Amino acid sequence: MKLKVFRYDGESGKGGKSGKFHYDSFEIESGPGMTVLSALFKIQEELDDSLAFRYSCRGAVCGSCGMLINKVPRLACRTQVEYLLKGEGQVKLRPFPGMEETVSWDPEEEVLVEPLPNLAKIKDLIVDMDKFFKFYRAVEPTFKPASKAPEKERLMDHEAVSELEKYTNCVLCASCVGACPISGKKGDEGEGEEAKGEIKEFLGPAALAKLYRFHIDPREADDDSRLLLANDKSGWWGCEFNANCKAVCPKGVPPILGIGKARREVQKLGKEPK
Ligand code: SF4
Ligand code: FES
Repeated sequence: MKLKVFRYDGESGKGGKSGKFHYDSFEIESGPGMTVLSALFKIQEELDDSLAFRYSCRGAVCGSCGMLINKVPRLACRTQVEYLLKGEGQVKLRPFPGMEETVSWDPEEEVLVEPLPNLAKIKDLIVDMDKFFKFYRAVEPTFKPASKAPEKERLMDHEAVSELEKYTNCVLCASCVGACPISGKKGDEGEGEEAKGEIKEFLGPAALAKLYRFHIDPREADDDSRLLLANDKSGWWGCEFNANCKAVCPKGVPPILGIGKARREVQKLGKEPK
């Protein structure tokens, strides 16, 4: 089987700083069940040991192998090459920055592997996750219980648990951010002292899904502080409901659903977006 792989060397200055990139084609022997991550290892071990990519668990748990595979953000460790070559797993997405064709490729013959869009490229398939985690931290993604820890566990009813579970399985792979037509765009100029002239960017689907998850957690304070934290265009109001986030999430998290619900709640409170 053939893989066409995006190559970029930001470190050596071999065109990296100028944004130049190219694609390398590799031919390897594939076996049943071979994943894109295994194919990349095979290339690294047998054909080109300079190929750079991220991974850790190899079991769809750590979220580090998110990349653009056949123009869809996916986890390389849970995407099988045979499946792609058979034309399965096609996902219809609204246009987003990585979707444009930068190289010709034949999906029946080749698997195209590129870095996730909307994040700065570092080397080959590795992107800079700093911005992703900056936005993630901005929503204060830690549990803030409203009361002291009880002797036993904090009980929740089944309905609350099943609502929370929709958002808790996130593995922080950034696939949703990579597929989002809004993430990566510059936001509006901030106004007033608080904004200090910063360009506020959309926090993105993963951070907003996490914020919503804590907002609905019945063990936290029953107030609107979480909800109002993102009551502006960099938050709930920046989304244009393209739904690419939900379509590509390998864990079935529906950021768009939480964003929509959060908006309706803000409207009920009669709070104007900042
Ligand atoms: S919401 Fe889904 S796609 Fe987005 S970071 Fe979490 S697991 Fe990845
Ligand atoms: S290597 Fe951990 S999710 Fe793919």
